[in-house]
Order: sequence, then structure tokens, then C-alpha cells
Amino acid sequence: MKCKACGGPAAINMRHHKLALCGEHYLEWVPQQVQRFIEKYQMFSPQDKLLVAVSGGKDSLSLWDVLLRLGYRADGVYIGLGIDGGVNYSDQSHEKIVQFMAKFWPQAKLHVVDVEQTYGMTIPELSLARRREAKPCSVCGLNKRHIMNRVAVEGGYTLVTGHNLDDEAAVLMQNTLRWQVGYLARQSPVLEATHPKFARKVKPLCRFYEREMAAYAIVRGIDYIYDECPHAEGATTLFYKTLLNQLETNSPGAKLSFYLEFLRARQEGLFQKAHDEVVLHECEYCGQPTSAPGLCSFCRIWDRGADAREPAGELGLPVAGG
Ligand code: AMP
Ligand code: FES
Ligand code: ZN
Ligand code: ZN
Repeated sequence: MKCKACGGPAAINMRHHKLALCGEHYLEWVPQQVQRFIEKYQMFSPQDKLLVAVSGGKDSLSLWDVLLRLGYRADGVYIGLGIDGGVNYSDQSHEKIVQFMAKFWPQAKLHVVDVEQTYGMTIPELSLARRREAKPCSVCGLNKRHIMNRVAVEGGYTLVTGHNLDDEAAVLMQNTLRWQVGYLARQSPVLEATHPKFARKVKPLCRFYEREMAAYAIVRGIDYIYDECPHAEGATTLFYKTLLNQLETNSPGAKLSFYLEFLRARQEGLFQKAHDEVVLHECEYCGQPTSAPGLCSFCRIWDRGADAREPAGELGLPVAGG
């Protein structure tokens, strides 16, 4: 297989694009595509302040790298969840980010929010204490969403996450099989800030296959955390990812067209009514918008009643790097 640009040996073959490229041209192609999607979906402009949610995985580290290479003003945020799983998962993830910054972008700025230091418990501890659930994934998800949003709103940022096509297609499949119209209405490359305390949220990698981002990280020399979160094993999204991969093997491009045709239908207003039906108000404790009455789900799980004290970390964000 030869590179379409220079005829040299190809490093990656993308059957769905009928395109093979060598390492050098692949490192040029990826940022060009990202820039194309940023413009197509009107994600942000060079003046905007971006906050990239970095987990230490291939997608978010590659995304941060690409945005900085494109000249965007992009800071990072890492949330220390306190997940060990026998492999010291959270500490290792943080370490990969620190190494990435030292190697490529020593001037970049990283906000670090350690959940245990800030709120008093790790995510697995919180999940066990409040829900009696050994699997912390749902508690983890709601904490990540809340904290990312808070940091972004406080800093006047647009929030950028590393969700790739495989992530988006798996969630889409899950929501479609149950016809979760409300969720479908909100699944988009861009989520506008529908409330002053909601950050604008964008996903510039939503059209990249997972293996394309892995290839970018490897060719670029980005060392990332290979392991999935130890709690992800058996998760439903992984099951849907496997199904979609089988589909893709038989029919290259199936995943991409499933997602793109959904976006087209959404654009045409197929789910508009469900979108309009959500009524938001501010949480009585933290002020973040919520559809639940009284407290938001984050404040509920942290047991923040009227008499709860403000945790120290809410007052200022520790900043590392730079
Ligand atoms: P996941 O929900 O683990 O599939 O991750 C989806 C996206 O959320 C990643 O690409 C990151 O942008 C972001 N993310 C996940 N975990 C963290 C974390 N611990 N800190 C900051 N951002 C994260
Ligand atoms: Fe949150 Fe695994 S439980 S990343
Ligand atoms: Zn080439
Ligand atoms: Zn709240």
C-alpha cells in the first residue's frame, strides 16, 4: 500500500475514505480534517478560549496536540477520579498527561481537579457509599460532566472533549435501540450553552474512527494510557462498539454513515420537539442548571443540603504545568 500524496510506504489505510497515507502526510491530514470539521459545524474561532478535557488516553491527548498545532488557545483540564483498579489507573493517566506536556507543549496550561482532595472521597468510594454500587461508572459520568462544566464556565471556556466516531456511534446505537428521543435530540458535535451556567460543548473528533486517533498518537510519538478504565469491562458501550466493528468489517464506512445520516436527520428537525421539552432551573446549592427539582444530581450524590459547607476546592482551581 502506497501513500496517495508521495508514493512512499503507507502507515495507515482508511478503506472508508479510500485513502492511504505515510506517517508524514498523515500528520498533516489529521489537523486539516479537524479544522474542516471545526468550520463545518461552526465549533469555535481562533479568538475563543478552549478547555480540552484530557483523560490521558489517545483521543484527548491527540486532540489537544492537534488544536495547539493549529494555533488555538487551548488549556487542558484533568479530573483525578481516584480510580485504582489494581493498576493505579488515575495516577497513571495523570502521569501520561504530564509527560505529554513536557515532551510537546511545556507552555500549555493544565487545570487539575482531584475529586478526593476537593470533595472528600474518590469516585469508587462515593459510588459505594451513596449507591451501594461497586461499578462507579454512572456516578463517575455525572461527576465528570459537572466538574468539566464548572471549570469551563468559571474560566469562560468552550469545553472540548475527545469523543470519537466509535464513541458517538455506540451511544447513538444504544439510544436508537431504546428510541430515547430526548437523548438523541441532544447528541450533536456542538451543544450550545442553553443557560448562562452551561458551557458550550464541542467534539471535534466525532468523525474520526478510534483507530485513526490511535494511529495519530503512535505516529506523532504520543505515549498514552492504553488500558480502558478498569471498570469499563462489560460496559454496554463496549458491547455496542464490538457490534459496530463487526458491521464495519463487512461494510467499510457503515459506522460513519450511520452517524452522519443521523446528524442529517437531526439537522432536519426530526428530534426538535423532544429538545424543546426540557425545562431547566438552577440547582439550589451550586447553581448549575438541572432538570431535576431542587438540587442537581451532583449535589444530591454529594449530600449537599442547605446546611452543607462549601468544599475548599470550589473557591479556586489548582493549576499545574506551565
Ligand atoms: P470517556 O467518557 O471516558 O469515553 O471519555 C470521553 C471524553 O471525556 C475524553 O475524550 C475526554 O475528553 C474526557 N474525559 C474522560 N475522562 C476524563 C478525565 N478524567 N479528566 C478529564 N477529561 C476526561
Ligand atoms: Fe469513570 Fe471508569 S468509572 S472512567
Ligand atoms: Zn506520503
Ligand atoms: Zn448542584
